[in-house]
Amino acid sequence: MPQHRERPRRLYGVMTTSTLIARKRDGQELSEAQIATLVRDYTNGTIPDYQMAAFCMAVYFRGLTPRETLTLTRCMVESGEVMSWHHLPGPTVDKHSTGGVGDKTSLVVAPLVAAAGSFVPMISGRSLGFSGGTLDKLEAIPGFEVQLSPSHFRRVVEKCGCVLAGQTTELAPADRKLYALRDATATVECIPLICASILSKKLAEGTDGLVLDVKVGEGAFMRTVEEASQLAGVLTDVGNGMGTQTIALITDMNQPLGRAVGNALEVREAIETLKGEGPEDLLHLSEKIASRMLALGGHPEELGAARAKVSSALESGQALDRLRRVVEAQGGDARVVDHPDLLPTARFQQDIPADRDGFVAGINPRTIGQVVMSLGAGRDRMSDTIDHSVGVVLRKKVGDPVHRSESLCTVHYNESSRFEAIREIIVGAFAVQAQRSDPPMLIKAVVD
Ligand code: URA
Repeated sequence: MPQHRERPRRLYGVMTTSTLIARKRDGQELSEAQIATLVRDYTNGTIPDYQMAAFCMAVYFRGLTPRETLTLTRCMVESGEVMSWHHLPGPTVDKHSTGGVGDKTSLVVAPLVAAAGSFVPMISGRSLGFSGGTLDKLEAIPGFEVQLSPSHFRRVVEKCGCVLAGQTTELAPADRKLYALRDATATVECIPLICASILSKKLAEGTDGLVLDVKVGEGAFMRTVEEASQLAGVLTDVGNGMGTQTIALITDMNQPLGRAVGNALEVREAIETLKGEGPEDLLHLSEKIASRMLALGGHPEELGAARAKVSSALESGQALDRLRRVVEAQGGDARVVDHPDLLPTARFQQDIPADRDGFVAGINPRTIGQVVMSLGAGRDRMSDTIDHSVGVVLRKKVGDPVHRSESLCTVHYNESSRFEAIREIIVGAFAVQAQRSDPPMLIKAVVD
């Protein structure tokens, strides 16, 4: 007698997965139940990668309606654990940056907000393409552990007021699977999919408030303010629609943020900033994000009072002390906070001189990011190991005067052959002109 094998569950009412892909391909709206089943069955392995890849490509070309985007985000959040922090004596708030070059604000902001009295259960990512990742930077600190168990994650938040860690296996598993698929199928650059991906991780943290730093410019996903505003609008609509107070800042990424680019160099710069000795743009953005986070959590609600709290947490040294405590709680060598020389350093350092007199009119962040990655700071493949010591420290920023032969930047490297390959590329990343141009405006808009 023939055996009847049970068919995998992939019917949506009377629709098969392929009918559903066709609906999206033809620009029709999917129901909540259809999206929920799609996410559930992809996460549990019933729907194969090739069908989900086709679905993502259909979304890439046809987009999602606001209702579909919200449903997709909600289903991705609910694919795993959603953390709860009701037992804490203050609000939970977080930030997320869409990625840039030299962006180490998370390392400054998390301890700063914790010192000001709110809690920050921060889940961060690794470097992607030419832009750095908070987890790779943190791993430059000897012993620092970013992969924490859920109970360790909770303990660090309770003890230090903030944690800086990677996504746990329990958190938004649909995104982990889907993001890898999108990366391999050219479907990353798609606003509704980016929105669902970013927010699913952040909302699963159970945070009360979220500040998004949407980067715009040469060194960002979004090249124009219009594109960045569109992404910011979708993110804030969905975040608020899901019940998490969400705002977005649209910030400049037409030159690297701060002066240091490269893992250990960026940790050092973040420490300097917490000591009040960091670059002005990094300090300014960190203070803005931190005060917005405090105000979103309502602790205090008024922005002016939040700014005052942030300044006091910095000036009193309490923010720096929080960093010390978090490093220790996550297994790192906390002495680096007072002795940054304990961070890995490259064997060679060489200045790149300007080839003419003038004013710096631009520093292409994408080129600087690619150069730093090529020195060994990033991964080509997931299995590659990272050289935490290498990078570039800018000696000049946009608007600065420069004389011929004066240093534009210092390159930190370990392999001479790699340095020779990038020398000319770095000179080309700096635009030097006879007339002075103003630095780009750092915070271009606030979307709430
Ligand atoms: N970062 C994410 O987490 N997801 C995206 O889709 C893009 C950037």
